[in-house]
Parts: sequence; C-alpha cells; structure tokens
Amino acid sequence: MPAAANGAVTRSVLADRIARRIRAEGPLSVAAYMAMALHDPDLGYYATRRPLGGAGDFVTAPEISQVFGELIGLWCAVLREEIGRPDPVIIAELGPGSGVLAADLLRAAAAVPEFRRAIRLYLIETSPMLREEQRRRLACAEPTWLGRADELPEGPALIVANEFLDALPIRQLVRGQSHWAERVVALDRADRLIFANGPENPALSLLVPQALRGSAEPGAVFELCPSALALGAALGQRLRCCPGAALLIDYGHSPSRLGASLRALAHHRPADPLAAPGSADLSAHVDFAAFADTVGATGADPYGPVPQGRFLAALGASARLVALSRRASASERRQLESGVERLLAPDQMGDLFKAMVLVSPRLPTPFGFECAGARQ
Ligand SMILES: C[S@@+](CC[C@H](N)C(=O)[O-])C[C@H]1O[C@@H](n2cnc3c(N)ncnc32)[C@H](O)[C@@H]1O
Repeated sequence: MPAAANGAVTRSVLADRIARRIRAEGPLSVAAYMAMALHDPDLGYYATRRPLGGAGDFVTAPEISQVFGELIGLWCAVLREEIGRPDPVIIAELGPGSGVLAADLLRAAAAVPEFRRAIRLYLIETSPMLREEQRRRLACAEPTWLGRADELPEGPALIVANEFLDALPIRQLVRGQSHWAERVVALDRADRLIFANGPENPALSLLVPQALRGSAEPGAVFELCPSALALGAALGQRLRCCPGAALLIDYGHSPSRLGASLRALAHHRPADPLAAPGSADLSAHVDFAAFADTVGATGADPYGPVPQGRFLAALGASARLVALSRRASASERRQLESGVERLLAPDQMGDLFKAMVLVSPRLPTPFGFECAGARQ
C-alpha cells in the first residue's frame, strides 16, 4: 500500500470501503474479505476487470487450447446417452469466463446434430463485463444467464465448471496454543489492512477434520470453503431428483490437508492479497475430499478427483490433436501441440488440476472416471 509524502496511507476506494467496515463491525473473516474484494458490486475484481488472457491476470485451460472445451463437449454427448438421451437437455456452465469453453463445447456437440439441437444453454455468471463478452461469443446459442446455480430450472442437466470453485471465498482457521482461531483481516495502527488471528475458540476445532487435528502444530492453517460446500449440497440434491451430472475441474487436493493456499495474481504474477483489493484475482486450492463428502451425503455419487492430464487423455486428447494437426500449418501445429502438452503434462497443469464428477444415483461409472471408482 503506497504511503503519501506526509506519511498517510493512500489506498483504493475499495480498500477504504473495507477499512470502514472493519472499523464499524470489527475484523472480517478471510471469506468476507474475499467476497468484498472479488464481488463488491461496483469496485470488486469481477465487476471491474477482464481477468483472462495475456492482457489480464491469468490464463485458463480453455483459453490455452480448444481441445479442452471440445473434449468436454464430447463428454457431455456421452453422458447424455447415459441419462437416457433427454430432449431438451440443459447444459449449464458455472463461471464461464470469456465463454470460450462453452463455444468449443457447442462446436464439438454439433458433430451429433440431434444432441446439439436438444441443448438449452445456461450460464451462471456474476460479472457484468464477462456476461457481455459471453453474449458476443455465444449469441447464436441463445443462452440464459443466471446469478446462481440453484436458479437453474428443473430437468435433465449436464453442468460444467472450470476454475470456478477456486474463486469462491474461503475461511482460514489457524491452530493456536490450545484451540483453533479464525484468521481475520484487521487494521494495524497505521490503518493498513493486515492478517491477524481472532480469539482461540474450542468450537472451531469441530470444523477441522479429525485426522488433521492431532497433527496440527501451532500456526498450522486449515482452509474451508463454505460456498463450495453449499454448492456441492445443492448440486447433489438436484442430481438426486433430476438426472444428470456435474463436471468440476480445478486445482486442488484430496484428501483434505493443512496449509494456506490463498493467493493473489495480478498481471500473471503473485501479488499481496491485501495490497490493493479489487485489482488482483484471489483464489485458493479446492478441498475435493470435503466437497465429495458433502455431495455424497445428499445421495448423489461423486467420482474422482482424477488428475486433469489423465482425464483428458482418457477422453481422447491425443486423437483430437492428430485430427486438428492434419488441417494446420506448421506454426499452428506447434501451437496446438504446446497447448495440449501444457494441459496434460504432470509438471504443468496435468497433475495440479483435477477433475471430479457428480452423477445421479445408479448411473454407470462416468466416461473418463473408469480408473477412479466411486467415493462411497
Ligand atoms: C477463474 S474464472 C474461470 C473462467 C472460465 N471458467 C475459464 O476456465 O476460463 C472464474 C469465473 O467464475 C465467475 N465467478 C466467480 N465467482 C462467481 C460466483 N460466486 N457466481 C457466479 N460466477 C462467479 C467469474 O466471473 C469468472 O467467469
């Protein structure tokens, strides 16, 4: 945070708004801070920025290679067969970004004209700027925009989300000397935003998985994402009643583990998460184990997670690359190859990113998850 010549702290209007709230209400949980930094209706990151691509702050899999969205389109075609070939069928994307994943998915779906005709496209998006970009890219598919997944109409649905869960606000719990404490965002004496620990509270221990409580040293951090768990419960309940599946791809881990993963990215570089709220993307690793447990409790079946590289390879990434390369110039071929390599290679995105699928009860093991087995 820059200091003015007279020593006073100068900061953005959003940082001022957050500081005023802390003065009025006391320190904010990390989740409340993230929600304001990302989603303040006029000044939040997603209200004011175009986050994706070279000129933005980060690049995602569908932006790297068309093969990503095309394979997911193929995956949807197979899953639709497994749920009885419904017509119409909802295809919904959570957090569609620039809309490129949906565009690639629909192009691949057009290989099965009867499937493509049956699709009703829903986009769950909060950012007005990204909605505009999606409108331009996907106009011919006549999408319907919604603010929340639980606003989707009833009916058979295939739901996809890439790098959506990692953008949801997390809480951080810190192991103290005797109990756990909430990590909070507070103000220091110079009125700067800082991380601090709230009071130790025995009730907070109940939020930490038992297997991790014993091994946690003072200072250890456990992250939980209440909105991801609420989404998992809502999707699970929906899938129990309406046939369908939800495919979620993100970076994260299973089993649950200790460690602070909250990070800020601005212009493709790590940034201080508190330095300039609203100007950097904030995200955190997804706890796939906690998510799967919540879904499993609803009666829907979670499978995975499996490493993204293994999932895309099982869906036929190499064959698609060969097919696209046949029609490509030498430089296009190099670009196609390096994009697919980036998505699949274990030392690039192939292992860090993982795919999990939730399906309606009694469906066969979904395409691409044959090696994973159901998590019961
Ligand atoms: C990291 S971007 C990923 C974009 C896209 N899925 C991709 O892979 O390129 C996160 C997306 O989720 C949207 N988003 C974040 N939080 C949201 C929320 N609570 N509800 C709906 N959309 C949200 C953002 O506006 C953005 O479109």
